[in-house]
Amino acid sequence: MIPRVKGTQDFIDCTLFNFIIDAVKKHLTTYHFTEIQTPILESIDLFHRSLGLYTDVVSKEMFIIEPKQESSEERICLRPEGTAPIVRAFNEHHIELTPWKVFSYGPMFRYERPQKGRFRQFHQVTMEVIGSASMAQDAQFITMLDRFFHEILKINSYALVINFLGCLQDRENYLGILKKFMDQPDITAKICEQCKDRKERNIMRIFDCKNPQCQEIYSDAPYIVDHLCTECAQEWQDLQKHLSLLSVSHVCRPTLVRGLDYYNKTVFEFVSKNLGAQDTFCGGGRYNQLVQQLGGRQDQAAIGAAFGIERLMLLLEPLRDQLNIAQPPALHIIIPMSPAQHTLALLLADELQAHNLCTDILLEGSLKSMMRKASKYGAAYALILGETEQQNRTVTVKNMITGNENVIAQIDLIAALQK
Ligand code: HAM
Repeated sequence: MIPRVKGTQDFIDCTLFNFIIDAVKKHLTTYHFTEIQTPILESIDLFHRSLGLYTDVVSKEMFIIEPKQESSEERICLRPEGTAPIVRAFNEHHIELTPWKVFSYGPMFRYERPQKGRFRQFHQVTMEVIGSASMAQDAQFITMLDRFFHEILKINSYALVINFLGCLQDRENYLGILKKFMDQPDITAKICEQCKDRKERNIMRIFDCKNPQCQEIYSDAPYIVDHLCTECAQEWQDLQKHLSLLSVSHVCRPTLVRGLDYYNKTVFEFVSKNLGAQDTFCGGGRYNQLVQQLGGRQDQAAIGAAFGIERLMLLLEPLRDQLNIAQPPALHIIIPMSPAQHTLALLLADELQAHNLCTDILLEGSLKSMMRKASKYGAAYALILGETEQQNRTVTVKNMITGNENVIAQIDLIAALQK
């Protein structure tokens, strides 16, 4: 047996997956989002330029495709996320009507160490609003997500964590302040090796360190929200005020930085302790510079987020019964008692299916074994065709729940089943 590739999974039952997709499509449509699809294959440079060379996703986790010919100039990878491709599409199609509110879903690829809720191929729903700088937009966007998780999916066990990373100038000033803090000899001596590396390459990521000693040290670190320019400080206040007015519970966490370089100003995550170590199921924020960074003619302020479908499924599995998951249609199983009734069975099945009645035929086995199979498949009705039924142009219809049997003329069958 050749097993599946490490870090990937088979969805043998897609009910919950499809429920999430159907529900989010409906929800996003209410907020005037439209669906787009972009390719799974993208240029490596797209992610180098957008996510940042020193982020984990780019430096360690890219699935790079070997060029077919050595001379090929194409440098291609499997997309690790959906925002850069959507911004690329925005630029490439010269979208002029903004804000452009779009969503997309599909597989993403990151060469991570697999564990609960962390895969190498996983699925995201990505939602982006390109061309709006207002904090009211941020508040509406976050409220939309919160309503989806809380009201539609009925998840209670989560928290919304937010932070504000300021504008580019704020970030530059702050990096100097943080570096000064980190350069103190007693701090440099105590932090872990990973933090030493992060300090040099991507200093704000030190706050993601899980080492208790490092965390203790960083509780005294300067935070960016205390070093914002007047305009950003006002925006940060406005965002919190809007969220409170919209009754969106949130926690301000000054150490939340997110793992990708394109963010500025608002950042947020939805986290749940029920997920274990990989506790973030949705993350996002503003990326006001990305459109121009990826070749756009002018800057477009933008905000977006993505949630991981697998992590949401982990949260939803115990809540399955409370969800409004559509029941599969009643199944009709036709049981021809011998090959002599196969043609009749085919014709009858064809007729039922043409009338949108979910139908299957069992073509192998004894009557007893076929009845057992029909029951295991969860059939609502078994439609038995023997020699007598064939001669009399009837069907014996067995209700699989009550066990009642009725003999019905073939000509009346559709009407009887549609009742
Ligand atoms: P991200 O935080 O890297 O953000 O990923 C978003 C979500 O994807 C995570 O919260 C998690 O649920 C899921 N996810 C990420 N990696 C894995 C994995 N290895 N296995 C399973 N699930 C995973 C982004 O990707 C940004 N593009 C979000 C965004 C959109 N920001 C602005 N617009």
